[in-house]
Amino acid sequence: MSVPGHHNVAMVTGAAGGLGGVIVRCLAAKGYRVLAADIAGDAIEAFTADAGDRVIPHQLDVTDKAAFAAALDRARAEWGGVGVLVNNAAITRTTPVFDIAPEEFDLVTGVALKGTFIGCQVVGAHMREHGYGRIVNIASLAGQNGGTSTGAHYAAAKGGILTLTKVFARELAASGVTVNAISPGPLNLDSVRSLLPPEKLAAVVGTIPAGTLGDPAYIAEMVTMLASPQATSAIGAAFDINGGLFMR
Ligand SMILES: NC(=O)c1ccc[n+]([C@@H]2O[C@H](COP(=O)([O-])OP(=O)(O)OC[C@H]3O[C@@H](n4cnc5c(N)ncnc54)[C@H](O)[C@@H]3O)[C@@H](O)[C@H]2O)c1
Repeated sequence: MSVPGHHNVAMVTGAAGGLGGVIVRCLAAKGYRVLAADIAGDAIEAFTADAGDRVIPHQLDVTDKAAFAAALDRARAEWGGVGVLVNNAAITRTTPVFDIAPEEFDLVTGVALKGTFIGCQVVGAHMREHGYGRIVNIASLAGQNGGTSTGAHYAAAKGGILTLTKVFARELAASGVTVNAISPGPLNLDSVRSLLPPEKLAAVVGTIPAGTLGDPAYIAEMVTMLASPQATSAIGAAFDINGGLFMR
């Protein structure tokens, strides 16, 4: 296996968010240079201010293909290319299924599903050209079981990400590019704890066999495991990290 010099350059979307931030810091701590991309320009600037020179903030709307290509160009200019892509950006709405307007459906699926598609297409083509790459798509338990409070559009988008992961994995496998997904259950993040009132949150936690919300740091560790040059045989896999909430 030939590993290009930029194998340790990563691009993470949704980098200013709860999980994205943990992933960026974990990759940086393991020696990766990281283009930390998020639509929230101010938040990503603030977040990366103390993250050291290994991390560059970059404003990116993942639903914009030209903008994604420009983000790739920036990483190429700074560091020679991108070896790792983590498609992590997503939004949720708790709207009940019969109340979801088509515009809201497009918005939610646009960020998670179309954004992941564009990322795999744009950065996947670059990786194929170099004969090396690691793409990790952040899906969700909701994409497997339909979700509960996170919204039908969100669940459908996450299910779609699991399917796209297989499609791109098959397409890119012979080029030294792996594509895999991680499906977390509810994580111990502010965004989760604030989504539900305390008694409902306690009820959700009560259904998790492990008895706790998932640890974002463990998801980040799994990202770095799948991002490493040694991770050659995981192709189109989905890793269920949900405290035993869903087994298959
Ligand atoms: N939090 C959980 O319990 C949980 C569980 C399962 C899966 N996940 C998944 O983990 C990922 C991160 O979740 P989180 O809890 O950190 O969410 P979060 O809301 O904290 O972060 C999401 C980030 O995505 C950014 N974003 C939104 N639209 C964007 C766009 N168009 N382009 C670029 N960036 C955009 C936001 O600005 C935000 O910083 C998501 O894919 C989510 O579905 C989270």
